[in-house]
Amino acid sequence: MKVCVLICMVLLSGFIKSGEAQTKPFLVNCGVTSSVNIDGRRWIGDLDTGDNFTLSYPGIAASTPNISEESIYETLYKTARFFTESSNYTFGVDPGNYYLRLHFYPFSFEDNDVSKSLFTIMANNLKLVSGFSVTTEISRKNSYMETLGSNSSSSSLMKEYFVNVNSAELVIEVIPDEGTFAFVNAIEVIPVLSKLFEGSVSKVGENGADNSLNLGERGIETVYRLNVGGPEIKPDRDQDLWRIWESDISYMFTSYAGSEIKNASNITYSSVNDSSVAPLLVYETARTMTNNEVLEKRFNMSWKLEVDPNFDYLVRLHFCELVYDKDNQRVFRIYVNNKTASENFDVFARAGGMNKAYHQDYVDVVSSQIDTLWIQLGPDTAAGATGTDALLNGLEIFKLSRRGDLSRISDRSGSGGKSGGLKSRALWLGIGAGVASIAVIAFLCAMFVRRRNTMAPNKSHPPGWRPFFLHGTFGNSTNNAQGSKFPGGTLTLNGSMATIRTGKYFTLAEMRLATNNFDDSLVIGVGGFGKVYKGEIDDGSLVAIKRAHPQSQQGLREFETEIEMLSKLRHRHLVSMIGFCQEQNEMILVYEYMANGTLRTHLFGSDLPPLTWKQRLDACIGAARGLHYLHTGAERSIIHRDVKTTNILLDENFVAKMADFGLSKTGPALDHTHVSTAVKGSFGYLDPEYFRRQHLTEKSDVYSFGVVLFEVVCARPVINPSLPKDQINLAEWAIRWQRQGSLESIVDPKLRKCYSLDSFKKFGEIAEKCLADEGKNRPTMGEVLWHLEYVLQLHEASLRRNSVEDSFSSTQIPANPDNPEVGNENNADHNLVEGRETVIDLNLGEDEENTRGSSISNGTAGVEEFSQLVHPQGR
Ligand SMILES: *[C@@H]1O[C@H](CO)[C@@H](O)[C@H](O)[C@H]1NC(C)=O
Ligand SMILES: *[C@@H]1O[C@H](CO)[C@@H](O)[C@H](O)[C@H]1NC(C)=O
Ligand SMILES: *[C@@H]1O[C@H](CO)[C@@H](O)[C@H](O)[C@H]1NC(C)=O
Ligand SMILES: *[C@@H]1O[C@H](CO)[C@@H](O)[C@H](O)[C@H]1NC(C)=O
Ligand SMILES: *[C@@H]1O[C@H](CO)[C@@H](O)[C@H](O)[C@H]1NC(C)=O
Ligand SMILES: *[C@@H]1O[C@H](CO)[C@@H](O)[C@H](O)[C@H]1NC(C)=O
Ligand SMILES: *[C@@H]1O[C@H](CO)[C@@H](O)[C@H](O)[C@H]1NC(C)=O
Ligand SMILES: *[C@@H]1O[C@H](CO)[C@@H](O)[C@H](O)[C@H]1NC(C)=O
Ligand SMILES: *[C@@H]1O[C@H](CO)[C@@H](O)[C@H](O)[C@H]1NC(C)=O
Repeated sequence: MKVCVLICMVLLSGFIKSGEAQTKPFLVNCGVTSSVNIDGRRWIGDLDTGDNFTLSYPGIAASTPNISEESIYETLYKTARFFTESSNYTFGVDPGNYYLRLHFYPFSFEDNDVSKSLFTIMANNLKLVSGFSVTTEISRKNSYMETLGSNSSSSSLMKEYFVNVNSAELVIEVIPDEGTFAFVNAIEVIPVLSKLFEGSVSKVGENGADNSLNLGERGIETVYRLNVGGPEIKPDRDQDLWRIWESDISYMFTSYAGSEIKNASNITYSSVNDSSVAPLLVYETARTMTNNEVLEKRFNMSWKLEVDPNFDYLVRLHFCELVYDKDNQRVFRIYVNNKTASENFDVFARAGGMNKAYHQDYVDVVSSQIDTLWIQLGPDTAAGATGTDALLNGLEIFKLSRRGDLSRISDRSGSGGKSGGLKSRALWLGIGAGVASIAVIAFLCAMFVRRRNTMAPNKSHPPGWRPFFLHGTFGNSTNNAQGSKFPGGTLTLNGSMATIRTGKYFTLAEMRLATNNFDDSLVIGVGGFGKVYKGEIDDGSLVAIKRAHPQSQQGLREFETEIEMLSKLRHRHLVSMIGFCQEQNEMILVYEYMANGTLRTHLFGSDLPPLTWKQRLDACIGAARGLHYLHTGAERSIIHRDVKTTNILLDENFVAKMADFGLSKTGPALDHTHVSTAVKGSFGYLDPEYFRRQHLTEKSDVYSFGVVLFEVVCARPVINPSLPKDQINLAEWAIRWQRQGSLESIVDPKLRKCYSLDSFKKFGEIAEKCLADEGKNRPTMGEVLWHLEYVLQLHEASLRRNSVEDSFSSTQIPANPDNPEVGNENNADHNLVEGRETVIDLNLGEDEENTRGSSISNGTAGVEEFSQLVHPQGR
């Protein structure tokens, strides 16, 4: 056997002598004399070195009978060489690049307590570690993994370096600190024959300025090597370089932001020189942004990586477009440490096609005090791509040496002990607390209403209104929806798009005039669809003008949906459309302006005065009414599909209206229970059942509305990644408190307990019911509405009982002193006054009457009092 190996070696050395580069790796099993086959490779005992390497001082051959970690390297881990004096492993090599791997599995042996071991390791002139404690390093790593929520802890450590050798020797010098000892369990020296790193790399944040890496002299440490969206790739699957590609999932910050995709069909390298950069296996799996069909993906996929401060890092991202067969489908931004590293990143375009393995490098400095490297991929809405989605297949982070030194500062200063780990962990937590990004940030900030002229609708909508036509169908051309009453009989809400097609047609010139040529200072909201401007139309009334992004295909679909939906819907609690403009590829919708913006801005994230309990109930009731109308008002129900606090807008009297019907869908026909459709909606509000089964029913809106209810009570974002893991998702978190009967513990402190406890309890119960796992166990919107009205009555009744004025509201919201009095029971009155909504609102009027009727008949004695609260001031 040995003879055979020897012969092989001779043959190999023959090749070397004949001018071929040294291709033979050195694999050293420390602390033993005999060689052993592991992972398909032969590891040579370090006292059986032959001529290939030498060990200047033998130290102690140490071993342990047991090891606690299951690993293919178990045999290597069971033995180590302990050094109480400096010693050199000297390898005879050809000049070139090498991967050097040091394997550590700490165990104590005889008098040598491994927790006291501290040492330095040099590779030629490069300092790899100093003041290094393996046990500290391992516990540091494990506690870092713990902060990431991973319970995978390890008891071994592997450190990998990329070194350039320009002489015929690679000397690995192991130097124990004074009075302690050093140890190492195994060493790999792997020649790297192909070029893995380019000479220069663009530096993040410096406009792509190239930074010479000078890798030849610098020396690199691999800090992370992740197979994104896939399982760990073992060394034997990365044949020539024997690298380990860890699974990325543990390092993801909120892992559900990214979902895994896989396609191994036909991947090739985009450049012939790349074949060693990563095995193709890495490119077969990827992570894309969760919920491919969810619009407005306003979050990032983020990887949070602990690194040593005060070093330059080379960030290598591996990409391969596995799904789209053309460009401009998936265009995103890449952030490294919160700085934009690339915009408009289109993998297909860069790699030159689908299934092309491609990588991109960046260099960034991690300064002192910071030990986190964030890699984030997120939407590039400015890019105008068809979809906002990001993709990543692999990720490597390399630390670049500073003046021949790769060791951590704290190690260098000799304090590499336990405090280092603790300090670092504290820092971690601190940094974690500052996080606030994934959140599906409010996007369509708003269309605001200003109903200046509601008392004189005819005056506010001067002649010039005319019906508009879509798809060749046209409406009842004699109707002027905005100004005059419909003759009752001509208007039917029968679900057909053609029946009510009225509204003003605006010219593009009028739109430019209204928005000061789309002045960015007038932007009140931005969404996947485009921008929303505040504008003033010719009669002086304020409107919200939603202008579709010209390249957005999704936009066109939504634009049409919205016109279709809104043209057949009129309701006091639905934002109404005033008109539209379709000219020169422009798609513009004009809405009533909602003066108080989104419900969300009144709950948190702004310094607006907090809403009182009554105002919150009113807003919920208003929104519930709008949704109830959608679900039942027309012959076929309409499912909103994007119920959230940013789509609930408040007018100048804080009357809530549902907005944004771009995703709305006509509900199931009578003989069907659901609509099968791609999942759309917003992160944090999505009905899990709909998400799982792609069956859409009205109950999906009910679920989202339940999340809204909790948001209203807790006044926090529905997704807040800066919170501990169990609190990130509001729906999950709040429901736990609610089930324990202690929702009050997490109530918005700004409510200052100004609510009646029984109304609060009932409110929590409703929210809980809305979040039932299965749609069939959730109430209908009509039931929700009824219950909410009951909650309001409970609250009002208790206020009366206690003769407590809702002092909070009247003092805190001076701008709207009448506001708390704007109940929903006065809808009828309002509808009578406000011509334009009432007229069109035929079915609805009845519907609301019915709901109200049931609510009153089931209500408590407070009904009388309740109706007295109706705002006396007509508008
Ligand atoms: C070490 O390498 C030399 C050539 O450099 C070769 O002759 C010898 O057989 C090798 N020995 C071992 C144990 O690998
Ligand atoms: C090895 O394991 C055995 C049984 O699991 C245990 O009794 C023994 O103490 C262990 N030895 C060491 C050195 O940990
Ligand atoms: C190890 O090698 C270095 C340089 O290669 C040398 O300075 C040092 O004295 C050597 N140490 C031992 C113990 O041989
Ligand atoms: C944590 O441990 C449990 C049981 O040991 C296991 O089922 C689970 O998958 C682990 N989670 C992670 C993230 O490793
Ligand atoms: C994988 O990609 C190929 C095209 O490269 C495609 O034909 C095939 O359907 C894909 N397979 C899956 C499971 O998506
Ligand atoms: C695989 O890729 C090659 C080169 O890109 C292409 O010529 C071939 O048609 C592809 N095969 C399949 C099955 O997609
Ligand atoms: C591959 O590498 C060679 C030698 O470094 C170079 O000349 C050639 O341009 C490279 N090819 C590509 C496609 O980058
Ligand atoms: C994504 O991350 C970057 C950098 O941290 C941040 O500036 C940006 O706002 C984030 N995007 C979203 C949508 O959260
Ligand atoms: C970078 O972004 C992350 C995630 O969004 C955030 O937690 C962190 O505080 C940001 N860091 C800085 C320095 O802004």
